[in-house]
Amino acid sequence: MRKAQVAKPQPEPIPGGPRHVAIIMDGNGRWATQRGRPRLFGHHAGARRVREIVEACPDVGVEYLTIFAFSTENWKRTQVEVAGLMSLFRRYISKETRALSEFGVRVRFIGDRMRLDDKLTRLMNELETATAGNTRVHLTIALNYGGRDEVARATRRLAEDVAAGRLAPEDVDEETLPRYLDTFVLPDPDLVIRTSGEARISNFLLWQSAYAEYEFIDTLWPDFTHEEFARLCASYGGRDRRYGGVGP
Ligand code: FPP
Repeated sequence: MRKAQVAKPQPEPIPGGPRHVAIIMDGNGRWATQRGRPRLFGHHAGARRVREIVEACPDVGVEYLTIFAFSTENWKRTQVEVAGLMSLFRRYISKETRALSEFGVRVRFIGDRMRLDDKLTRLMNELETATAGNTRVHLTIALNYGGRDEVARATRRLAEDVAAGRLAPEDVDEETLPRYLDTFVLPDPDLVIRTSGEARISNFLLWQSAYAEYEFIDTLWPDFTHEEFARLCASYGGRDRRYGGVGP
């Protein structure tokens, strides 16, 4: 991974480009099947793509990148695939910590950590701590994440505060609830990309994406390149976001 201090000619960030891009990295299984390989082969290829896209962020002016690595529904996959993915996450964190730090990436995890094994959660906590001082790219990895689950967990904590008298029911509004979400320190995503040709959001950032732009592209995640990422960011720069209003 390129180091933060290495001087190189920087392409101009895209005018009006997205500040926060969220990606549903879909298609690893099909990519592997097309090659006659087991699904985990595709997940490993997909993990390698993450680095390329993280590195491309500063070049296109993206400050926040959020990626969907494992959903609350992905436990329904075979035990072999789930165990393989958990092992991949552990290895990815151990292997990438140094490179991510040197590139200036701050890593955060969102999702429910309660169901994850102790070794993985320890590695996640260590990576968050090791990169806490970085600001070049804010990488958020959604792991055992589901939008509905996140809103339910947030509501439970909010209800506890109301029950304890720390929050008045009349103070619960669109400003208050997001403070209880896993993403409370992040801006809302401007652009959500889903690879592999499926046009659905699969429980990803439900509250946060209310006004996001969407790109559903046919490329399978292991084939997704920094060139395609830059092209999608550039095309976002031309969009007219009205947030329910009528525009200029
Ligand atoms: C969806 O493809 C992908 C996943 C459920 C896992 C995503 C994980 C990675 C890209 C690799 C690891 C990431 C990190 C951060 C190390 P799919 O298996 O549903 O593909 P299919 O629809 O073709 O079956």
